[in-house]
Amino acid sequence: MASAEEWPARFEGHGGPVKSVAISSDGRSVLSASFDYAAILWSIEGGEAKIVHRLIGHEAAVNDAHFANGTFAVSVSDDGSIALWDLETGEMASRIDEGGDKMLSVAVNEDGSRALAASWDRNAYLYAIEEGKLTRLAKLGGHRGNVNSVDFLPDGTGILTASYDGGIRLFDATSGELEREIYAHGWGVNVIKAMPDGKTVLFGATDGAVGLVSIETGEEVKVLPPHERPVLSLALSTDGTKAASGGGDGKIRFMSTLDWALEEEFENPYGPVWGMAITPDNTTVLYAGLDDHVNAWQVSPRKPFEPIDNDFPRRFQVSDTDDPGELQFARKCSVCHTLKPDDANRAGPTLYKLFGRKAGSLPGYPYSDALKRADFTWTEETVSNLFDHGPDVVTPGSKMPIQRLKDHKTRDALVAFLKRATDPAAQSEEDVTKQKEGEK
Ligand code: HEC
Repeated sequence: MASAEEWPARFEGHGGPVKSVAISSDGRSVLSASFDYAAILWSIEGGEAKIVHRLIGHEAAVNDAHFANGTFAVSVSDDGSIALWDLETGEMASRIDEGGDKMLSVAVNEDGSRALAASWDRNAYLYAIEEGKLTRLAKLGGHRGNVNSVDFLPDGTGILTASYDGGIRLFDATSGELEREIYAHGWGVNVIKAMPDGKTVLFGATDGAVGLVSIETGEEVKVLPPHERPVLSLALSTDGTKAASGGGDGKIRFMSTLDWALEEEFENPYGPVWGMAITPDNTTVLYAGLDDHVNAWQVSPRKPFEPIDNDFPRRFQVSDTDDPGELQFARKCSVCHTLKPDDANRAGPTLYKLFGRKAGSLPGYPYSDALKRADFTWTEETVSNLFDHGPDVVTPGSKMPIQRLKDHKTRDALVAFLKRATDPAAQSEEDVTKQKEGEK
């Protein structure tokens, strides 16, 4: 197991914000899930995070991923599916698509034989993981809002769900039947973790509340320090003695579960904390958010925070340009596309040399079948058409999110900008200008 000094400060390799992070029980591997449509399996060796496999196959942002046992992992995505990955090969072994609404989180039981997914279709789903395959066992209904979070009771007999309707519910893990709503919060519940005592559940809500609820009585037995923005993540240590809450306010609170004393607090300078995991030695919290990488915060012995970058994350760099097309690109496209030959692992293919390219033809990029089959070339007209009618109409089945730019002036400005910025000749000119400026 890696010790405090051996946890890498950063895990770099994603091409978009990171939504979740998980650590294997032996502390040697890490899984991260990203907006870039991929998950990554990392190995930790000698203070470095190495990419073992990029898990590619989801058709939208990957919201959560967990180890299922030594050799498998499960992940859920905005594409409405749960996938099982063979971690030896990095291949998708099995996948179940529940039909559209996004799945936000996933949990795995103690022995890795069951998985649970939380869906925005107002249901949770229970699956068996057997012989490298996923099989759906039950659909857990009865919620009046999106299901945001799910967990197994430690003995495996019960399932807890948390919903935007404010309810935390208990289901029978064998039959999938609803037993009861154990707690009703006035606001949506975003995250839950069943405590190892089997008697309580930790929750975090959209109003910033963090608390501990008794499963038997439904009473809130402990009110914990609230966040100023919605609570987005919770983590429990492997031995159950530490817990952490992370919020939209960028704060991470590290607590002892023995007396619920606040041990340390940290503020992530780069925005919300979407995902967290406590290392098995209880020294470090790995956390994820708007950055394209996972960061480590050493809690014990506490390291003073040193700003990681002078650069603000790329997506905040609102261009100081007056070109409306460039502005559109920065706001609506740059999180998934580059304009340079390197796609930087973003969710979409690079748009470098786009004009004149046959749709779906860039070598090495995993296009959807819809784009591979498309039989046209990108021109000013076809790009404009794509955003006039939307990718769902022009290339039905595409992995590109539904978006339209109905205003033809904005669309023309975007196309004109793309025409210039994706042209290799224009780019070398730009480089020359930059070089000259550098010489000044
Ligand atoms: C959330 C991520 C995301 C955003 C935002 C996004 N795209 Fe895409 N884009 C993709 C993905 C993924 C594909 C590949 C689609 C497929 O294979 O079905 C794609 C494909 C494309 C293609 C086809 C490229 C080819 O090689 O055939 C073009 C053109 C494109 N995007 C332009 C844009 C523009 C312009 C914007 C902004 C207005 C934009 N995209 C915003 C993810 C995104």
